[in-house]
Amino acid sequence: MKNVFKFAEACLQGIAIDEKLALTHQAWYLLENNQLSFTSELQVLPINQVKFPDKPILLPPRDMPKRKLGSSDGIAAFFHAIAHVEFMAIYLAWDLLYRFRGLPEQFYQDWLKVADEEAQHFELIRLHLRTFNLNYGDLTAHNGLWDHAKDTADDLLARLAMVPRCMEARGLDVTPAIIAKFKNLGDDASVTLLERILTDEITHVERGSFWFKWVCKEKGLEPEAKYRELIKQYYQGGRPKGPFNREMRIIAGFSNAELDWLENKNL
Ligand SMILES: [Fe+2]
Ligand SMILES: [Fe+2]
Repeated sequence: MKNVFKFAEACLQGIAIDEKLALTHQAWYLLENNQLSFTSELQVLPINQVKFPDKPILLPPRDMPKRKLGSSDGIAAFFHAIAHVEFMAIYLAWDLLYRFRGLPEQFYQDWLKVADEEAQHFELIRLHLRTFNLNYGDLTAHNGLWDHAKDTADDLLARLAMVPRCMEARGLDVTPAIIAKFKNLGDDASVTLLERILTDEITHVERGSFWFKWVCKEKGLEPEAKYRELIKQYYQGGRPKGPFNREMRIIAGFSNAELDWLENKNL
């Protein structure tokens, strides 16, 4: 039987994009057919050994060119940026699964499902990019998301707070307005694509909330206080900026008290 952590290691160490996608789908197929083992024997390689393709060239977020949806070039650059977010999301799901051991099998199954969906999102966006004669890697991209993974490589609660419950949750806040813009432009293909991704992303954030609360319970911690503490500690600036999509975030496992705290700098 093949082992999930061997797949994870291959996906985090391999730089060939299509191989990474194929391995991710294969692992999910094996899980669905009860042919994947979850025994943890391999040693966990440090996060600085994770490898990325040569392209796109990664820049700090502040050095990225500004992009607007007002022109075809701007839309193409927007989708290149989204392709990169989805590509990094494949790494983030695999790394969460790989780095934190000794959890229930369901934890690994959940993040493998997320990795598989992120691979699907990436493939859909990559296809869409080709309608603009653009390939993933043709433009620069930013490395901000992976910085959060490196910061939280030794702390599962911090990783869950910062990645699914902060960065991915941000997608729930901003995507509906972007979808509305594409609707106004009459761009049905982009609308369909972004709606599909948004539906899946709610479930990713929800799994983040679920496991955050589960680990807090195991450790006897109060989850809302712990969330506030970790965001203050790891989020540059102390707290993400709103506006927040309360409705979707509630579905994704945020409490009203957490949302009040995010919204109100005085709390
Ligand atoms: Fe995604
Ligand atoms: Fe996601």
